[in-house]
Amino acid sequence: MNYSDYQTTSVIPNASSMIETFRAIGYSIETSIADIIDNSISAEAKNVWVDFEWKGSGTWISIKDDGFGMSNEELINAMRPGSKNPLDERNASDLGRYGLGLKTASFSQCRKLSVVSKSKESEFSYWTWDLDFVNLTGKWELIKYLPDNEFENKLEDLESGTIVIWNDIDRLVKDANENDNKALDKFLQTMEFVKKHLAIVFHRFIEKGKIKIWFQNRILEAWNPFLLEETSTQSFPAEPLFSGSVILKGYILPHKSKLSAEKFKIAEGVKGWNGHQGFYIYRNDRLLVSGDWLGLFRKEEHYKLTRISIDLPNNLDSDWQIDIKKSIARPPVILKDQIKAYAINVRSQAVEVYRHRGKTVKVLPGQIFVPFWKEHKRGDKWLHVINREHPILDNIKKQAITEPEKAVETLLKFIEETIPAKSIYIKEAEEADLQAKPFEGIDSEPVLNIMKQMYSSLVQNGKTDLQAKSIIKNIEPFNNFPHLIDLLN
Ligand SMILES: Nc1ncnc2c1ncn2[C@@H]1O[C@H](COP(=O)(O)OP(=O)(O)OP(=O)(O)O)[C@@H](O)[C@H]1O
Ligand SMILES: [Mg+2]
Repeated sequence: MNYSDYQTTSVIPNASSMIETFRAIGYSIETSIADIIDNSISAEAKNVWVDFEWKGSGTWISIKDDGFGMSNEELINAMRPGSKNPLDERNASDLGRYGLGLKTASFSQCRKLSVVSKSKESEFSYWTWDLDFVNLTGKWELIKYLPDNEFENKLEDLESGTIVIWNDIDRLVKDANENDNKALDKFLQTMEFVKKHLAIVFHRFIEKGKIKIWFQNRILEAWNPFLLEETSTQSFPAEPLFSGSVILKGYILPHKSKLSAEKFKIAEGVKGWNGHQGFYIYRNDRLLVSGDWLGLFRKEEHYKLTRISIDLPNNLDSDWQIDIKKSIARPPVILKDQIKAYAINVRSQAVEVYRHRGKTVKVLPGQIFVPFWKEHKRGDKWLHVINREHPILDNIKKQAITEPEKAVETLLKFIEETIPAKSIYIKEAEEADLQAKPFEGIDSEPVLNIMKQMYSSLVQNGKTDLQAKSIIKNIEPFNNFPHLIDLLN
């Protein structure tokens, strides 16, 4: 197309409506702060300090780093929405992509974003985006303003670094009164959650000693999803995909019975054991997704020990549809089958650990393991049956001759205590329509016989035909056999 043949007109986005739209991208407070720390890591910071001060609606949050910082011009450009083209090739360790995160993450939480920065070569400079000012003027203009001069001094002891300050945090503390203890509690709880989120998202950086994150001056401990230090954690061989640029690695976490109460609690993370099952997607070691089956499977109780890491470089962002917030990733269609096949293998072994409570049944040579319950197939339906060869049954039969009451009680006790609830649950969840219903597919003669006995004794005891039938109808499992009840007379 020869563009010079055409008339053009410029359509500049309306600053106030555009910037308000940025607020609606859907960041949460924890994803916003993580996005700001991404920039610190890309700027080669060794330390990041997350601080806040409760002042009711005047509460501020700051994220400071000792990275390479920015000159005045660089800072102005950093404040520009779309400061970089997403199509540009990035340094392999850069966590950014869209040239938007600093602005969108901040605006999603606050109405005043101030950034102070200094590099080794330049004096410090600062600028502020004030959404009220933008609304007032309709212009894309920063103001030379700092909410408090003390922020200037906070970079004093660093050779270079940046501090991002959020003020007027309306999404979190709108109109809150400084003395409102309930509001303060809620704020502190939220910040506690943020802390846990950061420990997850940046765990690899912390573990590798690449970064220290200080949360209100306390160092943050990494949260590793895979419990690698536990001897009972099982890890699977890594599987490279996409010419080795994508790497899958599966883990089965230890069963609860193999973990200390404290470890079990820690491993629960922020989403609980069930919530944290699934894939963990890392982009350049930064965790984007912490436990999600990516639409390939559902989360289920019996898969809760399964966690699978997927490692991506930053040059596959468009294939994996990485979003601005760095909280979503979707596998490309051509990889879905391979990822699914790998996960099916890990998941099926995880179920075994779950089912047997982490115990592997060790049978010595020449011996046979004798289960009390067995999975049994009747026609095309599954049911759980009691092993008729089980030695305890012989004992109970003998006891029944002299002490029938006690024998029945012993048998019932054994059944109650050993019901294979987990196996039943798994079978039911996996293939509900393949589970047999009571007496389904076999002769219902034994049911009818017992019903007849009950019916006659009820009638003998003075019940009418209708009364006797109605009593039997309300007894399990007879309620499932209305056609047999009709035969009673
Ligand atoms: N803490 C920081 N230290 C040094 N430079 C920074 C810092 N934060 C931001 N910058 C600069 O500002 C630019 C814009 O940051 P922003 O987060 O908006 O976009 P991005 O990181 O490039 O991409 P993304 O939208 O994926 O986050 C960065 O590319 C970087 O050059
Ligand atoms: Mg960024």
